[in-house]
Amino acid sequence: MPQDQTPEDPRAQVESARDAFEREFERFAALTAESAGLKSPDDPEVLLRDVSEFRTKHLGKKSVLAASKKLIGKVSPEERAAFGQLVQQIESDIVEKIERTEQSLRARVESLRTAREAVDVTLPGRRPHRGHLHPITVVRQRIEDIFVSLGYAIEDGREIETDFFNFDALNIPDNHPARATQDTFYTTDGYALRSQTSTVQIHAMQRRGAPLRMIAPGRVFRRDTPDPTHNPMFFQVEGLCVDRGITMAHLKGTVAEFLRRMFGERTVTRFRPSYFPFTEPSAEFDFSCFKCGGSGCRICKNSGWIELGGSGMVHPNVLRGVGVDPEEFSGFAFGLGIDRMVALMYGLDDIRLLFENDIRFLSQFD
Ligand code: FA5
Repeated sequence: MPQDQTPEDPRAQVESARDAFEREFERFAALTAESAGLKSPDDPEVLLRDVSEFRTKHLGKKSVLAASKKLIGKVSPEERAAFGQLVQQIESDIVEKIERTEQSLRARVESLRTAREAVDVTLPGRRPHRGHLHPITVVRQRIEDIFVSLGYAIEDGREIETDFFNFDALNIPDNHPARATQDTFYTTDGYALRSQTSTVQIHAMQRRGAPLRMIAPGRVFRRDTPDPTHNPMFFQVEGLCVDRGITMAHLKGTVAEFLRRMFGERTVTRFRPSYFPFTEPSAEFDFSCFKCGGSGCRICKNSGWIELGGSGMVHPNVLRGVGVDPEEFSGFAFGLGIDRMVALMYGLDDIRLLFENDIRFLSQFD
């Protein structure tokens, strides 16, 4: 309605504004009454926004009520007081109802929020899942403890090597057949994943010279097809002792002592002649079966013996290559695979289980 015109009946206009308000307000009144049905704090929050729009519609500058207020000055002087009072009465009614609605919705938002954030301290707690060491780590640590107590240092080698450290420095020149049995994975820029922990012998002797005693546990890689006793990635421990006057007897005594501490006092060790390019003479070593004591069982395939690793006296070429004089120093080295050892100790018939990370398998070692 144009503002400069007095409407026919200002009273009727303000009363119709009130009626319109009452009709629309019913919706909020009903919702507030059953606000217990509002389950999430978001529901009353949405309603609060609606109420705010509702307030603007009925009390704002463009509302019918605001227009009615402007009429007060235009009605006849004798009706003005009564009309003014009516407008004010209706306005304070609307304000009061809207505020009551807002208050009750705000209280509902608060109580729903409190309920949602409440913690029931009487509920039983959830036990955090504690991890445990992988069986390979358990066995590796046992091996480390034994050698540390024998005066050996622990060396941590690198897994990515140059050809030189993986082969040449270990007396395996280009085209040597041993390169084929220890074939590994190569990067495009000439690096190789080490195929044995014997590489650490070279780094340790280059860095520390002689005499030295060290073991190097770590991950190695080979182009072996996975099967129950082979993985393309597995763990080895290398041992090296270089000093004046070291003989094969020291090698046998050390390996035998290690295996007695690992598998029990009665463990017997035997050495069989073998070949490794970086040791001369070389031997593979076996120990009497820890399960049957040598009489033969499933674990030792009825032989009474379990094959464990390779060993020998460090080849003079290897010593010379790292600047250790083979006339003055001699040394022994040995290496064994941890995965197969773990498989034997825990009665696993497939070492691939150790890498599959199946929680049903691993949780048995807790
Ligand atoms: C060597 O790797 C020599 N470096 C050991 C050595 C060290 C000899 C020092 C002399 C002096 P060999 O290739 O036999 O040797 O491997 C040693 C052990 O690694 C094996 O006895 C076996 O337990 C383990 N092994 C070898 N290939 C695999 C494979 N694919 N998966 C799991 N274990 C393996």
